[in-house]
Amino acid sequence: MENEELKLRSRGWFGRSGKDGFIYRAWMKKQGIPAYELAGKPIIGICNTWSELTPCNSHLRDLAESVKRGVIEAGGYPVEFPVMSLGETLMKPTAMLYRNLVSMDVEESIRANPLDGVVLLCGCDKTTPALVMGACSVNIPSIVVSGGPMLTGRHRGRSIGTSDIWRFSEEYRSGKMTDEDMTLAEAGMCRSDGHCAVMGTASTMACMVEALGLSLPHNAAIPAPDSARKILAHMSGVEIVKMVREDRKPSDILTREAFENAIMLNAAVGGSTNFVIHLLAIAGRIGVPLALEDFDKYSAGVPLIANLQPSGEFFMEDLYYAGGLQVVLKELQAHLHKSCITANGKTLEENFTAAACYNDAVIATVDKPFNEVSGIVVLRGNMCENGAVIKPSAASPQLMKHRGRAVVFDDIDDYKNSIDDPALEVDEHSVLVLKNVGPKGYPGMPEVGNMGMPAKLLDKGVTDMVRISDGRMSGTGFGTVVLHASPEAAAGGNFAVVRTGDIIVLDVPNRLLSVELSEEELERRKREWRPQPKHMKRGYVSLYTKCVEQADLGADFDFLRGNSGSEVTKDSH
Ligand code: FES
Ligand code: MG
Repeated sequence: MENEELKLRSRGWFGRSGKDGFIYRAWMKKQGIPAYELAGKPIIGICNTWSELTPCNSHLRDLAESVKRGVIEAGGYPVEFPVMSLGETLMKPTAMLYRNLVSMDVEESIRANPLDGVVLLCGCDKTTPALVMGACSVNIPSIVVSGGPMLTGRHRGRSIGTSDIWRFSEEYRSGKMTDEDMTLAEAGMCRSDGHCAVMGTASTMACMVEALGLSLPHNAAIPAPDSARKILAHMSGVEIVKMVREDRKPSDILTREAFENAIMLNAAVGGSTNFVIHLLAIAGRIGVPLALEDFDKYSAGVPLIANLQPSGEFFMEDLYYAGGLQVVLKELQAHLHKSCITANGKTLEENFTAAACYNDAVIATVDKPFNEVSGIVVLRGNMCENGAVIKPSAASPQLMKHRGRAVVFDDIDDYKNSIDDPALEVDEHSVLVLKNVGPKGYPGMPEVGNMGMPAKLLDKGVTDMVRISDGRMSGTGFGTVVLHASPEAAAGGNFAVVRTGDIIVLDVPNRLLSVELSEEELERRKREWRPQPKHMKRGYVSLYTKCVEQADLGADFDFLRGNSGSEVTKDSH
């Protein structure tokens, strides 16, 4: 049989005779599966992050049905399985704490089971990198199907999206919005299935997988409720069976060039700073060398051409109607490695050739970009020995070179207790510094880096100031916000010993973040520094704080780097 020649790994279960084959098949048949389905067809896993606690992914069971139809049509047999899901809005202390846990769940679920290929159903921020990381560490044919962005929100006749939350919050704090206004806005924010409708982290991740070649073209922008999303899911089901037959694995797609493409594309769409951490972690799993500096190097010279919030004006729905991400890729072709192979076996170029732009207000051109400033800048200096990042397109141009007095908060409670205190010595030239919101410090590196401004400055009409932390910022956030300072405060580097009153210099054009202190003074303070008490002595959190790497390395667990392959291991009985 043709399929027998494929040497499907699922034959290590269903192709067995005697007791073991009996056990593997008999219990599958209880689900009403005819024997011929298990007699040599590629078995395709549908790895589903559906959960009612992850509202952005709550429609993924429906989407799985479309994937299944495609798999069956192509001659495979689909099996859907759940993995832990990560809802960005509900999970405390932050969904990021669990990204690595889910990646382990995914990796082990794939390897331990009779799967020949896998469709990764994801949507909300961390679900995408977690699934891709896990799949890379097994390296069997894998394709991503994102849930798609939700429809644009509406409030009092105006389009709204997740980025407006930060505006609403400041207006509420300064009394410009009432509780009633907030309730109305809340009702209009999320109008359909899908993930955040702006270029936040979820959309950034969906763009990342499309640019890497891990999905079919158009995966990023088709809105969740659009019937085209179901067709894409169906076609991805067809495609994964082909990928198994052609043995096209993540390692064939995820070359160094593919990572460089993703970085350039991220700059052109104004993607989230979280992209840095997740892409570094994925590279670590597939074994492609990638460094923090690469993000600066490959985004330099790429202008912002997608006019999407939070860097621009429009929403993901608009990107789809304007022609989708393939238009952006086509427009960037002079920069990209066009011959990179993608999930469907075609090159990036073959995929984008047919793309056409239908709205140049949403997708501009490289020659006449929407903003010359794009990408992610990597900062160095004595305040962040291993780097920090800033997204200039979401920041204020007049603060790109700034020297100011530090106002330091030792942790998030200190910040919350003092930020609105009228006695807080702070003005618009000050630099807010928030410590202990890094991977080990919080733990889990929450999205608090775009910390709200002091109430007394909001009252004065100040809308931005320099804010620095070892944490992350929501991809929907904006402001002159320096993030991912490494080593984080909890790891005891220079960032840990910055104090209120120190003078801080931010110089984005020269890639510098420094504190005006001598080496001797920094060393003296570090000798006095004591680590914070442990968060938890047992369980996952203790494993996390022990093994998590710093942000500049992708915040993966040290022992998860790399790949353990897809070998069919020993029998269970
Ligand atoms: Fe799920 Fe924004 S909260 S994508
Ligand atoms: Mg988020």
